[in-house]
Formats: sequence, C-alpha cells, structure tokens
Amino acid sequence: MKTSPPGSELDVLISAEDIARRVRELAAQISADYRGRPLRLIAILKGAWIFFADLIRHLDLEVTVDFLSFTSYGESPASSGTVKITKDLDQSVAGLDVLIVEDILDTGQTFEYLRGVLEAHKPRSLKVVTLLDKPSRRIRPVRADYVGFTIPDEFVVGYGLDYAQRYRHLPDIRILRAREE
Ligand code: IMP
Ligand code: MG
Repeated sequence: MKTSPPGSELDVLISAEDIARRVRELAAQISADYRGRPLRLIAILKGAWIFFADLIRHLDLEVTVDFLSFTSYGESPASSGTVKITKDLDQSVAGLDVLIVEDILDTGQTFEYLRGVLEAHKPRSLKVVTLLDKPSRRIRPVRADYVGFTIPDEFVVGYGLDYAQRYRHLPDIRILRAREE
C-alpha cells in the first residue's frame, strides 16, 4: 500500500527556502522601483494566489489588491471567443500603476490576452511579475518585467500551480513527469 504523502513522488525543482528568499528579493526590487507611488496588484487566479500572498507581505509600498480569473477553451487564449472571464476586476484600474502577478509565463498567450484586457482599462502603467518563466516555450512576443526563476521546459506543480487542480498546496515547486508503472 502506498503510504507516502501526495506529491512526494515528484522531484523538487525549487525548494521552499529558495522560493522565500527570491520572493523577498523581488519584493525589495518592486518596492524600490515604485517608491512613493501607490500600486494596484492584480493576482491571476488560481495559480498565482500563494505567490501573491507571500509577495505583498514583503512590499514596502502603499498597496491595493484585486483578483482576476478566467477560463480558456482550446489552444489559444488570445484568439477571440475562447476566453471567459469568471471573476472580473472589482475596481477600475484607470490611471493607476498596475502590476499583474502571474504564476508562470509559458507560451505567452495568456499574458498577451490579459495585457490586452487590462490595457483597455487605461492604467497609468502596466507591468507583470511572474514567479516562473519558461522562455524556451514562448510563441508570443511577451516578456515579464520581473521574473522569480527561469526554468527549463518541464511541467511543474506546487506553490499554487496545479495539474488537474491537484498539488497546489505543495510548499515547493516540483517537476511532474509521466511515471513509469
Ligand atoms: P501560457 O498562456 O502558455 O503562457 O500559459 C500560462 C498558463 O498555463 C499559466 O498561468 C498556468 O496556468 C499554465 N501553465 C503553463 N505551464 C505550466 C506548468 O508547468 N505547470 C502548471 N501550469 C502551467
Ligand atoms: Mg494560470
């Protein structure tokens, strides 16, 4: 009988300690860059939720928060008709400095779509911080302003990231590989 806890069969790519250290570094850099300016942070649900909660607690800024959630159908979230916003922003971002908080930048299609949605609201500025970046997978011309870790082309879970809604609770980032039975 299998007694190991869920997730324990996955190889750790980034430890909880390394994540915590890097999150503090990102927060220090963001705090310096926006010094004296109120910042609206927008978490993209669900994947970015744990990163968001940790990051904002280290920001030395006047901060307000909002949340955005959407589902995409088919291959490209950027193509029209394939995205449904399931939780829209509660407040307008018009005229504000806005920082999007993402879990991972992969092909770039999600962020390209999001950027279009948010730019339509005419923020004063719009930047993105992503915990993870997989640049080798990029098919859209987007880049993050702040990156936690650049990772190889592996499917990862934990610290908010899921596979079929599983593994979000793991405290570290782990590689999910097809298991040989
Ligand atoms: P993109 O549109 O291809 O850039 O994909 C970004 C979204 O795909 C992320 O916000 C995640 O929800 C999901 N995703 C991409 N790669 C991974 C991964 O390795 N693990 C978990 N989710 C991923
Ligand atoms: Mg996501």
